[in-house]
Amino acid sequence: MTLCPDSTLSLVSPSISDRQQVAPLKLGIMASGNGSNFDVVAQAIQDGQLNAQIQVLIYNNPSAKAAVKAANRGVKSVLLNHRNYKSREEFDEKIVQTLRQYDVDWVIMAGWMRLVTSVLIDAFPETIINIHPSLLPSFKGIHAVEQALASGVKITGCTAHIACLEMDSGPILIQAAVPVLPDDTAETLHARIQIQEHRILPLAIALAACRFKI
Ligand code: GAR
Repeated sequence: MTLCPDSTLSLVSPSISDRQQVAPLKLGIMASGNGSNFDVVAQAIQDGQLNAQIQVLIYNNPSAKAAVKAANRGVKSVLLNHRNYKSREEFDEKIVQTLRQYDVDWVIMAGWMRLVTSVLIDAFPETIINIHPSLLPSFKGIHAVEQALASGVKITGCTAHIACLEMDSGPILIQAAVPVLPDDTAETLHARIQIQEHRILPLAIALAACRFKI
């Protein structure tokens, strides 16, 4: 392991010689929307900053732009539309089956807008990472940015954490803070938060893998 005080990803990445001996993390990414977080993980891998490979993208919304981003990068994607399943558990069973089919060992929820059940959490214990647009434990749920604006906080941010059964909960890996400016809308604030999400998510994956596996 190389500790490098003035770097970001290399802070937790194996050194070059270590990296030659360490198999890449096999990631399964789950996304519902634009896929900008999918894209930064793929870019970090391409740039050699993250020793990983994306086995599959699972998306639940047929119009998710994440699927286009996966295609542009030559990553296999699978549409699993939650509307086709009778229960959350049945949907998660299909997700688990797909992740296993693609030999995934770390699951990244990168803008996954569905509640998950114990079926998924128990299948990948302590190996599911979620990115959320608030400083958890504040502002859980799918309207975190709007909640932060409405509350009047002057600082918000984003959190990468290990996912537990309770929504937007679990051990925090990394957080980043951003200011809330007086004229912010949900769009401008979310854009500022996403710049930070894109910094911390690849780093959190590397950190989690070091913490739990190396
Ligand atoms: C991100 O801001 C992520 O934090 C959020 O969805 C967005 C997805 O953006 N996730 C949640 O709100 C989960 N509760 P992207 O599709 O551009 O990566």
